[in-house]
Amino acid sequence: MPDNTPEPQAVCNPISRSAIFIVATVSRAEGKADVVRSWCGDIAALVRAVGMRAPTANLSCICGFGSDAWDVLFGAPRPASLHPFREFGSGERRAIATPGDILLHIRADHMDLCFELASQMLNKLGDAVTVVDEVHGFRYFDLRDMVGFVDGTENPTGKRAANYTIIGDDDPAFAGGSYVIVQKYLHDLDAWNGLTVEQQEKIIGREKLSDVELDDSIKPSCSHSSLTTIEENGEEVKILRHNMAFGRPGAKEFGTYFIGYARTPKPIEQMMENMFVGRPPGNYDRLLDYSRAVTGGLFFVPSTDLLDELPDRIPDAAAASIEESQREDSREGTLNIGSLKGTPQHE
Ligand code: HEM
Repeated sequence: MPDNTPEPQAVCNPISRSAIFIVATVSRAEGKADVVRSWCGDIAALVRAVGMRAPTANLSCICGFGSDAWDVLFGAPRPASLHPFREFGSGERRAIATPGDILLHIRADHMDLCFELASQMLNKLGDAVTVVDEVHGFRYFDLRDMVGFVDGTENPTGKRAANYTIIGDDDPAFAGGSYVIVQKYLHDLDAWNGLTVEQQEKIIGREKLSDVELDDSIKPSCSHSSLTTIEENGEEVKILRHNMAFGRPGAKEFGTYFIGYARTPKPIEQMMENMFVGRPPGNYDRLLDYSRAVTGGLFFVPSTDLLDELPDRIPDAAAASIEESQREDSREGTLNIGSLKGTPQHE
């Protein structure tokens, strides 16, 4: 990432113990887009205010916008690779697209901070948004996910993490930004736990206790680790994952929230295709025999600099209608009735 790249959001922050994932749709009613645009300028201050109450707990918040929402909220120009979530697979084994205009990925080492920030954010947004999915995630013991394996081992770190996730000269108007794909998976944990540890290890491609990768001589080509290892022009392409376990034992709900960041959606989509369709087709990821994706969304994550500018990015059509209403106001103002709109008039 060149030195002059605008400051990214907290995409490359290290693993946290807790997270809240919120996906919301934006109301298309008049005036609601203005609320969301103005909220973009408040995000950094809200994170600072809540984070300062426990500075060692590493609170962060990443905010992303879906393809349709970008057009409605901010208009042109738009991020080069932003498009609606692409579906893969068929029947029971399908990566489905579900509604979502805004993603909030809130992380900290303590859930109370995540909770407080989520509440403050949603208070500001009010009825301009409807939350369509909210997941409170945690890491299991030594950073394991719900299927009991350590998750995140092969994530790139340091400069490499930024190189794989942060946009640079490839889309200069959106440099410092990133793309994120989320999928909420529910597991059939009874069936998964019915497998032997050795069978589970062959499905993931790593040893369960030690987290060591299986030797190529015994690792199946349909293992999760094989199918999500991809190359472009002979070089491995990585993504950055911050998956979390979640669930409600009383409701027999056991899940993994998948969240992957990259500088274009392409590598994540390639991995999903390998998992759901198979590489070659039919040689699919057996983790999907025990896991079902119930949501799917793709979002663009602007740099912090761009996030601060978004309140002023009014799309042309909206700007025209605001100008028109201002003109009407000033016409009414000359008749001296503008300030009395909607209020009872007394002698
Ligand atoms: C049911 C949901 C999922 C679970 C429980 C899961 C779990 C895991 C585990 C345990 C590992 C091995 C340790 C590690 O390197 O992190 C892993 C690796 C990986 N997963 Fe997933 N994963 C899930 C979904 C996905 C999805 C949807 C993608 C991408 C579309 C993905 C991409 C990757 C990648 C890139 C690796 C590293 C592969 C390597 O370099 O060896 N995972 N995952």
